[in-house]
Amino acid sequence: MFWSTSVLLLGLAHFAASKPLASKRWDDFEVKHAWVEVPRGWELHGPAPSDYTFDMRIGLKQDKFDELVTALYEVSDPAHERYGQHLSKEDVAALVAPHPDSVNLVEAWLLAHGLDTSSTHRSSSGDFITIRVSVAQAEKMLGTQYQVFRHGKSDDYVIRTMNYSLPSVLHEHVAVVAPTTYFGTMKSMKATSFIQEDAPTIENDADFAHLLKGPGSLATVPSSCSTTITPACLRALYNTVNYTPKATTKNSLGVAGYLDEFANRADLQTFFQRFRSDAVGSNFTTVRVNNGGDDQSDPGVEANLDIQYTEGISFPTPNIYYSTGGSPPFKPDDNTPTNTNEPYLDWLNFILAQDTIPQTFTTSYGDDEQTVPFDYATSVCNLFAQLGARGSSIMFSSGDDGVGAGDCFTNDGTNTKHFQPNFPASCPFVTTVGGTIRVNPEVAVSFSGGGFSNYFAQPSYQTAAVTTFLSKLGSTNAGQFNKTGRAYPDVAAQGQGFQVVIGGRVASVGGTSASSPTFAGVISLLNDFRLSQSKAPLGFLNPIIYSTGAAGFNDITSGSNPGCGTNGFTAGTGWDPVTGLGTPDFVKLQSLIG
Ligand SMILES: *[C@@H]1O[C@H](CO)[C@@H](O)[C@H](O)[C@H]1NC(C)=O
Ligand SMILES: *[C@@H]1O[C@H](CO)[C@@H](O)[C@H](O)[C@H]1NC(C)=O
Ligand SMILES: *[C@@H]1O[C@H](CO)[C@@H](O)[C@H](O)[C@H]1NC(C)=O
Repeated sequence: MFWSTSVLLLGLAHFAASKPLASKRWDDFEVKHAWVEVPRGWELHGPAPSDYTFDMRIGLKQDKFDELVTALYEVSDPAHERYGQHLSKEDVAALVAPHPDSVNLVEAWLLAHGLDTSSTHRSSSGDFITIRVSVAQAEKMLGTQYQVFRHGKSDDYVIRTMNYSLPSVLHEHVAVVAPTTYFGTMKSMKATSFIQEDAPTIENDADFAHLLKGPGSLATVPSSCSTTITPACLRALYNTVNYTPKATTKNSLGVAGYLDEFANRADLQTFFQRFRSDAVGSNFTTVRVNNGGDDQSDPGVEANLDIQYTEGISFPTPNIYYSTGGSPPFKPDDNTPTNTNEPYLDWLNFILAQDTIPQTFTTSYGDDEQTVPFDYATSVCNLFAQLGARGSSIMFSSGDDGVGAGDCFTNDGTNTKHFQPNFPASCPFVTTVGGTIRVNPEVAVSFSGGGFSNYFAQPSYQTAAVTTFLSKLGSTNAGQFNKTGRAYPDVAAQGQGFQVVIGGRVASVGGTSASSPTFAGVISLLNDFRLSQSKAPLGFLNPIIYSTGAAGFNDITSGSNPGCGTNGFTAGTGWDPVTGLGTPDFVKLQSLIG
């Protein structure tokens, strides 16, 4: 079998190199992905300049991806003998490397289009090939036409296609080609945070800091935490206040940043002076990905929120801020090549190429799932599985629109009304964090994103929890969501009234953007605890939190997440698609899974 395939490919490569484009093989197009209508929020601006060049990324099918998923679940399942035996970078690379046939065939295709395959860039496992092409070349390769589209709200322009095709022989070898039909680039990726203009702010927490000196029990959480959240509130609420990190030479926490959002070092010091005085002088590292910036005169709300709260909870654990570049993608009147690649792929390929990676990550960005092409979403989601297999816990915010914003019509041409899940929140290989508000008791915050994926099937780790919820739900919202899809959020944390220093001043910020770094801070402390006892880090969290760890959460039993003209879902006893399993109790989690 292998023998005959190689013979075929040798002949093919030779043929292609000597007679460019002569073969029918490369003109036998089959549609890879097509939109029925221009994605909402975008409008057609005009044809793309044919000599405009960009970096095309070709994602090859990962040959042994099923084995990678099996390994991921085994090393993440506390009941399995492989629990905690995470894979090395090399182990993962071996499983996701494309089959040699796929590489040969794609190279033959590139050669047939006159492209120099020696000038490509390859990801560390070889599953992504990047090559600079012109619009004219890309159109011939993908049997399509590129056009310039404008995003109405942000006035951003991108070069994309309404659909693209691949020679039929390539379909079983190529997972995705980008940029093509994924429109949700940079600016339009919604940062799930907002400044609460009229919300109260406080200058420091000296008034109640003394309350936290006792045992970090709920009884000591000051009532001011119902309106203004500081690290002291979160450390008391989530019971981390008495824990001192011990594994700071091994453990670290990574914050993924996009959209030209820069984390400000002076603001972090001011934040520490006001809200975490023992951390004054401590710092974070900025890592620039794909020429990401670090403009200290332009502090970002999202970036400052993220880093101030991961640091505020995990101090003195080292924190890394990743500034991922690539904006603006395209200027219609300026024909210089700019980066048009999608940020998730850039960031993920960068991280996966590192030998050592943080044990905990948080990301506060997302798109409506239906605006992310299925092939693209699958490729990105599979890259998160690689990070989990290597032993990292990956947190994402669940979104700020409840079950969906606006009219919630589908974009498949049928204009059906349907709840709108978020991506990457809907990826089964990440841990998705919803939002809460108030203390004694905490309740769900109404914007907490939650629901069921239409792309990814329900993973077995959550079957029992979701089935119980659905049986209680009965026929409520029937037909508006996909019962068999991956359900989220998995967990929750506070999501409103966060006191954030921006440009030297305190502002009140809300969003599940606040919840994800908060939860990640607590997980980072649990990772510290495990590492300090020479245990493996927690890695991919979901299998353990839905089983052994489930009792380590404060169940949130009231509140709901309205949207799409409905009341959304309601939080109740056990898991629900508003607050997941609930908010973390560090001390309980320490004894259950630490
Ligand atoms: C692809 O998009 C073009 C331009 O919008 C359109 O004319 C064509 O019918 C589309 N093809 C498919 C298969 O959707
Ligand atoms: C933080 O690190 C940056 C660069 O690594 C450095 O310029 C800055 O002085 C540091 N700030 C503090 C307070 O240590
Ligand atoms: C529902 O989710 C499944 C995956 O679990 C998917 O295959 C199916 O297409 C989805 N249905 C709709 C209508 O989106």
